Amino acid sequence: MSQPQQPMTHLLADYRPYPFTLKATALEFHLASQSTRVIARLSLVPKADAGGQDMVLDGGSELELRALTINGQEPDPRMVMREGETLTIRAAALPAEPFVLETEVQIDPSANTACEGLYISGGMFCTQCEAEGFRHITFYPDRPDVMAPFDVTIHSDKPVLLSNGNPVQREAGLARWQDPWPKPAYLFALVAGDLVAISDSFTTMSGRKVALNVWVRPGDEDRAGFAMESLIKSMKWDEEVYGREYDLDVFNIVAVDDFNMGAMENKGLNIFNSKLVLASPETATDGDYERIEGVIAHEYFHNWTGNRITCRDWFQLCLKEGLTVFRDQQFTSDMRSAPVKRITDVQALRARQFREDQGPLAHPVRPDHYEEINNFYTATIYEKGAEVIGMLRQLVGEEGYRKALDLYFDRHDGDAATIEDWLQVFEDATGRDLTQFKRWYTDAGTPHVEMHEDWNADDGRLTLTLRQSTPPTPGQQDKPPRVIPFAVGLIGPNGQEVAATRVLELTEAEQSFTFDGLGARPVVSALRGFSAPVILKREIDDATRAFLLAHDSDPFARWEAGRDLALSALTALAQGRDGGEDYVAAIGQLAGDDQADPAFRALCLNLPGEEEIATRLTASGVTPDPDAIHAAREDLARRMAEAHTDLLAGLYDSMVVKGPYSPDSDSAARRALRIAALGLLNRIDGGDRAEVLFGIAGNMTERMAALSCLIRRGRGQAALTAMADQFADNRLVMDKWFAVQPMAAPPAEAAAIAARLARRPDFDWKNPNRFRSLLGGLAANHAGFHAADGSGYDFTADWLMKMDKANPQISARMSTAFETWPRYDAGRRAAALAALNRMAEMEGISRNLREMVSRMIA
Ligand code: ARG
Ligand code: ZN
Repeated sequence: MSQPQQPMTHLLADYRPYPFTLKATALEFHLASQSTRVIARLSLVPKADAGGQDMVLDGGSELELRALTINGQEPDPRMVMREGETLTIRAAALPAEPFVLETEVQIDPSANTACEGLYISGGMFCTQCEAEGFRHITFYPDRPDVMAPFDVTIHSDKPVLLSNGNPVQREAGLARWQDPWPKPAYLFALVAGDLVAISDSFTTMSGRKVALNVWVRPGDEDRAGFAMESLIKSMKWDEEVYGREYDLDVFNIVAVDDFNMGAMENKGLNIFNSKLVLASPETATDGDYERIEGVIAHEYFHNWTGNRITCRDWFQLCLKEGLTVFRDQQFTSDMRSAPVKRITDVQALRARQFREDQGPLAHPVRPDHYEEINNFYTATIYEKGAEVIGMLRQLVGEEGYRKALDLYFDRHDGDAATIEDWLQVFEDATGRDLTQFKRWYTDAGTPHVEMHEDWNADDGRLTLTLRQSTPPTPGQQDKPPRVIPFAVGLIGPNGQEVAATRVLELTEAEQSFTFDGLGARPVVSALRGFSAPVILKREIDDATRAFLLAHDSDPFARWEAGRDLALSALTALAQGRDGGEDYVAAIGQLAGDDQADPAFRALCLNLPGEEEIATRLTASGVTPDPDAIHAAREDLARRMAEAHTDLLAGLYDSMVVKGPYSPDSDSAARRALRIAALGLLNRIDGGDRAEVLFGIAGNMTERMAALSCLIRRGRGQAALTAMADQFADNRLVMDKWFAVQPMAAPPAEAAAIAARLARRPDFDWKNPNRFRSLLGGLAANHAGFHAADGSGYDFTADWLMKMDKANPQISARMSTAFETWPRYDAGRRAAALAALNRMAEMEGISRNLREMVSRMIA
């Protein structure tokens, strides 16, 4: 029985450098599924200014220590102490000169269900060390500011043996790898298995040839090509745009089936969740292809932003993640449509990060305390972290950004850096004072910006008054004003732009800006490009929104006008009022505009999700009723279909993409518009089109769309059976199959459907993807998860408690389904709180889940 762990809070303010320098790390693995031996030889030098300190090493309580020597000698056993997750060697037993510490431990990868440290997935040995997994492999100063070159020898009879760096030796049963670039333990990786590679090469800008491999299980080779193409594009892009060259002889990517996150940037050996590597037209959707391209790029880009320059401590996580997300967003904008990428990024930010920021789990982009760091791989650190960099770039300009980044790479290559270091390079490169800007890193919460317009007809002058305020978040009551880049343009009554985009800099709680020389009152196009992650409140009527939707030259602001129109209709309908006339009319105009990008039209035709409607209602002080929201959205979709039947049917027919499937963005855009039309028509054609499409579609994008439509019409059974028969052996397709059923189910049945699916023998719940599919599918059904009878909450809590014993990272992550609970009615709140309390009181609850639940209950 595991001991109840005491909460232990880590504080940013407690940072102290490690008192020893680690010069080199040599590891020897003798792999066996139940008893792997790991020998670690650490070359250490006591730091001059830290004389006389004990050496504390991290190491999980499950490590079985078999030998420990210092310079080949066993120390007095009283000098070595194990306590909890650490091993301490008394200063008295340590030489004052450089010395070698050697340990040997035994571990049992077959018993490791947490997908952290060394574990087995589908018969293959693999590792996941970020953030603190390495301590489950051997005793080590497992912290990002302790870096060393690694020399790794693997003994195993598996055919493929991989680690970081370059291969230096290979013989029967043995492989040796050396990584010359000093790195922290979290970037260590090892893979041993029966794998096959698709291979290619890349010649870097200085003419070095790099061998590239994507390793998959035999049989999956024909689905790895797109990942390889994406890697090559990423390597080229990072040279062209950031001047960053790859720095080893080989770059390996490995796909594994059991993985807690998306992927991991281990030096020279990226390990991926197989769903972010494997793709074929029959098994992957356009969305999957785009994500694969983006995540391959993200992990590759970490080689400079994360690996060559890493984080001093885990509080600085956004230093590498925010920047790397920003870079992968730029990459995708360059590869595909920049406006569409911006709009979908904002949608995701609002759905995940705004939601987080408004609830009990709100935290700053750079937190100052945590109990379990794995709970902080959040939308705030990643996506808001990227937004903050986007704002910085607007404030210093493209040129300034480029200069600052060059300085960053120059000055900090090889460092474990901080947000202070990051801001300093911008100050030094551009001369700009970023003291106030830093609040974006230290203060949680989403600012509200109120915009007030004053029109003086006599002088032809428009005055904009902008007020900012940020609601309190846990532990942070007062929020001083921030620097907010607020991009505006003006549009004349005839639809022509009369003032091009200008970025206003808000620095005070209230400020006014004037625009002169205007002939007639213009319409303000505000927060263009979503220039800052804020909630904009303005006085505006539906007619003006429709005008912006028709005329705004800024694609984001144009889309936003349509979005606001939809939300204004939906929130009215959800409260039993009328609404939607203007939206339905405007959307007809736009959908029929053949000049507009199909992807953009698809984005405008897709109604905001129920969760987003609930968020909007909450923001205006109304308690959201999930059932009323569901009904309102169905009603508006049906009215759109009725009002524009011919137009939508025409789009559905004409947006067919002929010829063999290609995941390129133009083809994907046409499919997206076709599917958007289908989704609306499905409300009035009884599912007939979807049934035909499901039968003939040659790609997974259209098949999944058709399947979801059929389920919504209550006629999905035959299609579900057909798909399960066809793809029983394909985990990734079956994950979609598990997800779509609770997601598209009628809300009242969603939890029961999820429960029925959970009883199937192929609900392999310890597989993180399968678990996420089912529980995530239910959580994505807003009215289903929040069913008034508490069935969604209970089902979810039961499974989180079960999962917590096997894989605490997953139970903790999925518990965020509950994070909005305080905003609902008393009945739902009581049911959600009961479920949260049940988890909190569970015996042996993990540190991960306990932290999450206690923050949500607090
Ligand atoms: N650094 C990885 C990425 O964003 C994420 C890995 C996090 N894993 C974890 N178990 N917390 O690319
Ligand atoms: Zn990352």
